[in-house]
Amino acid sequence: MMSIKQINQLYGSTQILWNLDLEIESGSITCIMGRNGAGKTTLLKSIMGLLPIQSGDILLEGTSLVKQGAEQRAYMGIGYVPQGRDIFPTLTVEENLRIGLPVLNKRTGQKQTHIPEKVFELFPVLKTMLQRRGGDLSGGQQQQLAIARALILDPKVLILDEPNEGIQPNIVQQIGDVILKLNEEEGLTVILVEQKLGFARRVGKAFRLMEKGQIVAADSMENLNDELIKQYLAV
Ligand SMILES: Nc1ncnc2c1ncn2[C@@H]1O[C@H](COP(=O)(O)OP(=O)(O)O)[C@@H](O)[C@H]1O
Ligand SMILES: [Mg+2]
Repeated sequence: MMSIKQINQLYGSTQILWNLDLEIESGSITCIMGRNGAGKTTLLKSIMGLLPIQSGDILLEGTSLVKQGAEQRAYMGIGYVPQGRDIFPTLTVEENLRIGLPVLNKRTGQKQTHIPEKVFELFPVLKTMLQRRGGDLSGGQQQQLAIARALILDPKVLILDEPNEGIQPNIVQQIGDVILKLNEEEGLTVILVEQKLGFARRVGKAFRLMEKGQIVAADSMENLNDELIKQYLAV
């Protein structure tokens, strides 16, 4: 459903992505893994239109995204949770969530004025904190808020960049449960950059290994063996 064909990306004169090919299956959870600096975040930002690519194509269900801006890609149903906690610290939890409503309405033609209840079923803690400032939440709660905000636009594809970085284990568990639930119950396609092997194995159905700006191995998760781990992941 998402096909990335021969993309090249440069920061100034430094090339990061090299003729990168990647196929993401619809309804799957695909983990993109690789050492620091492999280009994982650069790849996700290129998919989202936050970085220009020099050549190649990115197709969502056969439609090319490369001429669409980042906002347009969100309207097309791609939700993105960037690396780090991407929330507005001075806005309340409710205000942070409401930011997604115009995108949902533009995307679906609805006129929703309140935050879909589903978000609170997935992350009950947010309901109890609606009037708190985002910046006053714990790191794990901020990450839940960032994921909730991406979900408000009711995406077809959810892209997460290391959502568990620096987060307490019980919240890592909850985030994993939410990803699995949305995938199983709604067929949400998930692209997950993940460094933690245990989490990747629990949640991921497929893996793609990245090294030096290319995909060097692709298979279903049960085939992520020690040899590949040693070659591409061990530090
Ligand atoms: N804004 C930038 N300008 C120049 N180089 C960058 C920039 N962001 C990242 N890089 C470089 O691109 C490479 C890939 O980075 P990144 O995509 O963040 O890797 P990963 O997410 O796999 O750790 C690294 O060598 C990094 O130093
Ligand atoms: Mg990164």
